[in-house]
Parts: sequence; structure tokens; C-alpha cells
Amino acid sequence: AKVKEVEFMGSSVRPKDCPKDDRPEFAMLGRSNVGKSSLINSLVRKKEVALTSKKPGKTQLINHFLVNKSWYLVDLPGYGFANAPESARMDWSSFTKGYFLNRETLVGILLLVDASVPPKKIDLDCANWIGRNNIPMTIVFTKCDKTKNSKGQRVDENIKSFQELIKENYKIHPPWIMTSSATGLGRDELLLHMSQLRNY
Ligand code: GTP
Ligand code: MG
Repeated sequence: AKVKEVEFMGSSVRPKDCPKDDRPEFAMLGRSNVGKSSLINSLVRKKEVALTSKKPGKTQLINHFLVNKSWYLVDLPGYGFANAPESARMDWSSFTKGYFLNRETLVGILLLVDASVPPKKIDLDCANWIGRNNIPMTIVFTKCDKTKNSKGQRVDENIKSFQELIKENYKIHPPWIMTSSATGLGRDELLLHMSQLRNY
């Protein structure tokens, strides 16, 4: 599961403008600032192939990255960020319908969840929506290097309560991986996981 090359294939405003769906692809979904673009950079070991920012709302379009000329990583705008400029804000309900439900080659959604904070309703709702629509999903916990935040909340406890909440409330238990784009934790595990999903 080695990354030999990565190529930015362009940004699309609407799902129908995306590159031809002829290759397996994984979509990065999650709240603004959760670390979607950073994780792409970490996976492909490039500093800024995907643009990142301290400020939420950086990624505004659907960005396709072709890995090893054979599969796509797709960087998406985050949800849960109310202050994005109106013109750039994505209509999430039509977007999810238009892209997640119709993209034939979507192997799965990587749902990124910030492990440095306790579970957020918007992420639980999102996991529930993906589960109800039978789209394969992997929960990717991000920022696991922040073992304890300023309020004393712990990564391992946050992860445990997130898993318990989706299990109890929605009866779903997707596979999950702990990652950090800062330290590279989980990078090889996630690449291997994706290569297994592609070969099913
Ligand atoms: P949007 O494009 O706004 O939806 O955000 P995003 O999910 O793409 O987040 P992005 O990758 O731009 O990262 C947001 C901030 O979180 C940046 O300041 C990153 O440096 C930081 N960050 C991302 N991943 C990690 C991580 O694993 N550990 C730590 N400590 N910080 C991280
Ligand atoms: Mg981004």
C-alpha cells in the first residue's frame, strides 16, 4: 500500500463536474477544521498538495487527487461551519444526494472525527446518515497526538464515547482508525485498509 505518486486532478463546483468516475475513490468527510486536507497530505507525504489552514472553511470545492494513477482521494469542504461566505457554501443536502448516492466508484467514505474533543451531535448525525444509506464508512479519528486538551478531555475517552453513542443510538459499528497528521500515526494502517477495500 505504498504511495508512489499523487496528482491533483482539479476542483469541481458541482458533483456532475467531477472527473469521469472510472476509478475507485474515497471521500474525506467531516467538520471544518477536523483535518481532512492535512490527512491527505500526510497520506501522500506531500506538504501542501491539499491546502490547509488554521481557519475553518479552507476547502470549498470537490478536489480530486489521483494516487498512483489508479485511485482517487477526494477532499471536500467541511460541514458545521456557519461563517463560510454564502457564495461558496455548499448545499449539503443536494450535495450528499448528488455525490455520495450517485458516484458509482465511491468505495467508501472516510468520516473524520476530531478525537481531541468529546462527541459532537453533527458528527453523530452524519455517521447515522451514512449508515442509513448503506454507504461503507470508516471512522478516522484525527488529532490523536493531542492526548489531552486544555479542558483535560482525553483522546481515548472521546473515542470510546463516540463509538458507544453510534452503537447504542444507531446500531452501527464501522471500522475505525486512530490518526495524527502531525506524527503520522495511523498512516500505514489507513493506507492498508483502503487498499483492502479497493480489492474487494
Ligand atoms: P476545511 O477545509 O476547512 O474543511 O478543514 P480541514 O478539515 O481540511 O482541516 P485542515 O486539514 O485544513 O486542518 C485544520 C487545522 O488543524 C490546521 O491548523 C492543521 O494544522 C490542524 N491539524 C490537522 N490535523 C492535525 C493533527 O493530526 N494534529 C494536530 N495537532 N493538528 C492537526
Ligand atoms: Mg480542507
